Amino acid sequence: MQTISDILSLREQRRQWQLDGKVIGFVPTMGNLHDGHLELVRCAREHCDVVVVSIFVNPMQFGENEDLDAYPRTLDEDKAKLRSLNVDVLFTPQAKDIYPRGLEQQTFVEVPGLSYMICGASQPGHFRGVATIVCKLFNMVQPNHAFFGEKDFQQLQVIRTMVQDLSMNLTIHGVPTRREADGLAMSSRNGYLSAEQRQLAPKVYQTLTSIAEQIQLGRRDFDKLIAEHAAALNSVGFKTDYIEIRSATSLLKPGFEELQLVILIAAFLGKTRLIDNLPVSLS
Ligand code: PAF
Repeated sequence: MQTISDILSLREQRRQWQLDGKVIGFVPTMGNLHDGHLELVRCAREHCDVVVVSIFVNPMQFGENEDLDAYPRTLDEDKAKLRSLNVDVLFTPQAKDIYPRGLEQQTFVEVPGLSYMICGASQPGHFRGVATIVCKLFNMVQPNHAFFGEKDFQQLQVIRTMVQDLSMNLTIHGVPTRREADGLAMSSRNGYLSAEQRQLAPKVYQTLTSIAEQIQLGRRDFDKLIAEHAAALNSVGFKTDYIEIRSATSLLKPGFEELQLVILIAAFLGKTRLIDNLPVSLS
């Protein structure tokens, strides 16, 4: 595995692959890799001739009260994991090359509507940061296929919409969420949890499955269903940011005829914000 940090060398490698007729797969990450990330890499390996993984902790998608400096950076361990999966190139750009004029002066990409609801309402500017960095990375790597976890369901929708709206020439793949044995969705942020919080954390997934069961049993009083489950989460020590039941395609509030739903949760345990989601098909 080659590690490349500068954009020109990456472009040169990319040009060579194009001459050789290689299909390029790309997995963008912020590092601190867990099995959820590695699953994305495995999918990329299956579909593509060559695989590029990027590690860049993107300052543009962090909110004011989120600690960018505290985000876990584990480059040596990450490299060993990527090597074991035969990744071709690890791309580790520097912030000074990605945002040479600083964040304030940076041209940005924003997917309106989708970026302002649910997680975007709790974290204004977050999806602008995500869309901008993903667009920039796509321009640098120029992949044929890119792979994202379904755990970040709204992020995946934002990226799919950006690709469609800007006529980008690549295929986006959503990869199912990897879970720990007790149901907790794998996330770099799980590392922030104390032992006691870690015991409680699977309640997020249990809440999702409980709401899904109730919907499958015919409940349609979604506001009440949500309020009951938020109260139950809060009573055991969470601070629920939101629980939403939305159309899985538009992420808008569902009409009665909507058959593909998704339940989305964000909840704080101490300072750690856990997010998860569960699609529900009524067809
Ligand atoms: O999902 C992530 O890790 C990040 O949001 C991404 C897509 C790598 C952009 O920084």
